[in-house]
Amino acid sequence: MGRHDGRAVLITGGTSGIGLATARLLGDEGARVVVTGHRPDSLGAAREALGPDATVLAADVADPAALDALAVAVRDAVGPLDLLFLNAGITGFGGVAEVTAQEYDHLFAVNVGGVYFGAQKLAPLLRDGGAIVVTTSIADVEGIAGFSVYAATKAAVRSMVRSLARELLPRGIRVNAVSPGPVDTGIIERTLPADAAAATRDQLRAGNPMQRFGRPEEVAAAVAFLGFDATFTTGAELAVDGGASQL
Ligand SMILES: NC(=O)c1ccc[n+]([C@@H]2O[C@H](COP(=O)([O-])OP(=O)(O)OC[C@H]3O[C@@H](n4cnc5c(N)ncnc54)[C@H](OP(=O)(O)O)[C@@H]3O)[C@@H](O)[C@H]2O)c1
Repeated sequence: MGRHDGRAVLITGGTSGIGLATARLLGDEGARVVVTGHRPDSLGAAREALGPDATVLAADVADPAALDALAVAVRDAVGPLDLLFLNAGITGFGGVAEVTAQEYDHLFAVNVGGVYFGAQKLAPLLRDGGAIVVTTSIADVEGIAGFSVYAATKAAVRSMVRSLARELLPRGIRVNAVSPGPVDTGIIERTLPADAAAATRDQLRAGNPMQRFGRPEEVAAAVAFLGFDATFTTGAELAVDGGASQL
């Protein structure tokens, strides 16, 4: 018997990093897991990593129409959901003098639109009494040079968590955020130029009270807690950051 037997979970951005670790944790404990991504290579890698028990679907979270189609596919694959983990996100780096309007719009479309329209299109699949967890970031409470747009996207979704928590109270659905500090997932290398990635990694490690990066599994444990155990908690943000936002 697994702790999550009979439960169904959808994880956007579940093909790598924090989302994949959460899919493994919940799947190993009996949940039926659907993960999404949008690049063919990450979708293929996730299918291999998770095996036939998990469902891997493509959907660009920046495209609300793709989220409509995703809702239909998820309903067909696993039926009503117990947990919706809105985790897909990207990083963007650039000083205020450099960021283009296109870069700004894209970051907001993925990180904010992906969460907002994700909740709009996918929350109807949740059972009453279910839960949403949204991935924010330590950047939403820190001033980090070069991360102003990324940080603003995460502050926006942190705020949405409060409003959505209110809106979904009548259905008994709790909405919370998990706020990672630096976690070793490769997202920095994938989304920043090499020199900026190296400088960012050094800066993040040195600046962390625990002097290390977190592991995706450490964030996954917090997601499972918020999703299933924190039954008197809604609208909250749980930091998983080595103390960086608190000490
Ligand atoms: N790692 C950190 O240090 C850190 C710290 C704070 C917050 N976070 C947040 O944690 C979340 C997960 O990040 P991670 O570190 O685990 O990174 P990751 O390994 O790069 O995972 C990102 C996931 O999001 C998906 N994704 C990205 N853009 C997408 C799009 N347009 N449509 C659909 N899926 C998309 C990716 O799929 P594809 O590869 O197919 O695009 C992947 O599954 C993000 O929201 C990130 O901002 C990370």
